[in-house]
Amino acid sequence: MLMDSHSHIEMKAFDRDRDEVLKRAKDAGVDLIIAVGIDLADCERAISIAGKYDEVYAAVGIHPHHAKEIDEKTYDSLREMAKREKVVAYGEIGLDFFRNLSPREIQIKRFREQLDLAGELGLPVVIHDREAHSETLKMLEKWNGDKRGIIHCFSGDYAMAKKCLDMGFYISIPGTITFNKSEMLREVVKKAPISRLLVETDSPFLTPHPKRGERNEPANVVYTARKVAEIKDLPIEDVERITSKNTLNVFGIGKYEQESCYGR
Ligand code: NI
Repeated sequence: MLMDSHSHIEMKAFDRDRDEVLKRAKDAGVDLIIAVGIDLADCERAISIAGKYDEVYAAVGIHPHHAKEIDEKTYDSLREMAKREKVVAYGEIGLDFFRNLSPREIQIKRFREQLDLAGELGLPVVIHDREAHSETLKMLEKWNGDKRGIIHCFSGDYAMAKKCLDMGFYISIPGTITFNKSEMLREVVKKAPISRLLVETDSPFLTPHPKRGERNEPANVVYTARKVAEIKDLPIEDVERITSKNTLNVFGIGKYEQESCYGR
C-alpha cells in the first residue's frame, strides 16, 4: 500500500499511455493517486480521469502560474467543479516567486481569495510554495480557515516545517529527496513526525534518482518512500502504511471504511 499524494496524471504528457502508466503504478503497489489541477481546463481533465479510474481522485484550483488568468467567472466554475464526484481538495494554489509567470501582487491576491474559497467549500488545500517561504507562511498564518491541507513539494527548512506542522498542515515529500543536494529536505524528514508526512511524485515533473532524465510517473513514488524509510530508519512497510493513512486522513477519503483497513 502506497499513495502518490500529488500527480498531474491528467496532463497531456500522459495522454498516449495513461493506461500503461497507471498499470505500472498498480504493479508498484501505488493504490491511490491525487490528480491535481492547475487551471480550469486541467481541472476538468483531472475530474474526468478520476471518473475513469478507481484509484484516481481529483483536486481543483488555479496554480500561481495561472493566477493572472483568473476572471470573474473562474470561481463560479471552481465552485461547481468542487461539488463533482471524487473531488477531494482545493489546489494547487499558492505562490511561485521563482518563475513569476504571474505578477507577484496578483499571485498574492488570488492565493488569498482561493484560501477563502477552499474554506467556504470545506475542502483541504494543496499549497504550492516555490521561493516564497516567508510570504506563504504569513498568508497561511493570517488565513481564518480551519487550516487543513498539505504543503506540497515541501522545499523549506525545518523551522518552516515546524510552523506548518504547528498550524495543522501535513508536509508532502517529493522525489527530489533522492538528490545529493537535498540535505535540507532530508533534515526535515528526519525531524518531522512520520504521522504528518505524505509522499508524492508531482509527475510528470521532478523525476527521482535513479530515473532522472525520464518523464516522472506515479510508480516512482516508491523511490521517495524508500528514501524516507532510510532517513527515518523505519521498515518500508511502516512508511507506506503510515503515509497512506495520512493521505486518506487529510483528503477525507474513505472516512467510513478506514476502521476496517487500519484498525489494527
Ligand atoms: Ni504540482
